[in-house]
Amino acid sequence: MIPFNKASITDKEIEYVVDAMKNSKLSGDGKYTAKVYEKFKELFGIENMLLTTSGTTALEMASLLIDLEPGDEVIVPSFTFSSTVNAFMLRRAKPIFCDIRRDNMNIDETKIEGLITDKTKAIYTVDYAGIPCDYDVINDIAKRHNLIVIEDSAQAVGSYYKGRVCGTLTPFGCYSFHETKNYVMGEGGGIVLNDPSYMDRAEIIREKGTNRRQVLKGNVDKYTWHDIGSSFLPSDLLAAILYAQMERFDEILQKRLTVWNTYAEELQPLVKEGLLVLPTVPEYATHNGHMFNIILPTDEIRTKLVAELQKQGINAYICYVPLHSAPMGIKLGYKPEECPVTEDYGARVLRLPLYADMTKEDALKVSAAVSEILHRI
Ligand SMILES: Cc1ncc(COP(=O)(O)O)c(C=O)c1O
Repeated sequence: MIPFNKASITDKEIEYVVDAMKNSKLSGDGKYTAKVYEKFKELFGIENMLLTTSGTTALEMASLLIDLEPGDEVIVPSFTFSSTVNAFMLRRAKPIFCDIRRDNMNIDETKIEGLITDKTKAIYTVDYAGIPCDYDVINDIAKRHNLIVIEDSAQAVGSYYKGRVCGTLTPFGCYSFHETKNYVMGEGGGIVLNDPSYMDRAEIIREKGTNRRQVLKGNVDKYTWHDIGSSFLPSDLLAAILYAQMERFDEILQKRLTVWNTYAEELQPLVKEGLLVLPTVPEYATHNGHMFNIILPTDEIRTKLVAELQKQGINAYICYVPLHSAPMGIKLGYKPEECPVTEDYGARVLRLPLYADMTKEDALKVSAAVSEILHRI
């Protein structure tokens, strides 16, 4: 059986969680949360980061910090997880869906400007599959139109755009450390405040609208209500898991890349035969091996392939139903034809199993199964 995903947990993660429990620090902002911040600084030079309860709530915090108002428009790809869009819809802002690029399934930056109106306030980008969008172009558009860019880098921890790490490419980076991501804490996320002027308010929003973090830092002796906010900080027990994962940053990255590169090599002949298409990694990017996608010729072939792989104990996964044509998108009045490339890819993309403890032999087995089935069906 080859599952679609499996978290890589070693004795280290267990040791740190037990230690966190022994410290009786079950709530947030304890020793391991601080250690996670040190690690992100050491690995990526990130100075201002706050752990959150999920990637979803990191995006929600960003939406609170930019003071979105009802009726504001946000340009966003439709080929993403619901959280990217829910985060600003909770502020009553409206999604304006932008189509994606055929080569890497990221937002098509050439189509953004055509969607800007006098109501546009922000662009939410998604570094899909751990591949960064083209930020020089997107940030230039944002600057010229006075828009804020939020980077949904949920999938892109440790990927780079022109030598700069994902999560630091716009004023706000939003990471996920969900069990399905590269570095996990069960449920959890992080917001990177690349414009430090947002930090004080971010700390307050994260602590139910109070200045409690100032008490922990010894700056004030009692805390009270200062702003709107919610319960966005995760338990230190979960931070302990993440700290162990970040200590293993390179090991996890290399293991994932081994699987990713094996797929890329083994499936290349099928591309030449026209049996599938592989997304490309832009020259400006180095990626973190988060996902391996194949694009099948038709929806029917994809359905058959998933069923046949399942029979062999291999779990492949249909990634996103595009948001604009999902039940909620239709209810809101969006039309499938608004984003034709997204609609087309939504029906044909398949995500192969990929996790750190998957072996090269597993990847060879999956590749051989894909090849055999696609030649047969
Ligand atoms: C692109 C994207 N955004 C946001 C999220 C939400 O992250 P989380 O599951 O940590 O809330 C995910 C995770 O599934 C994601 O893939």
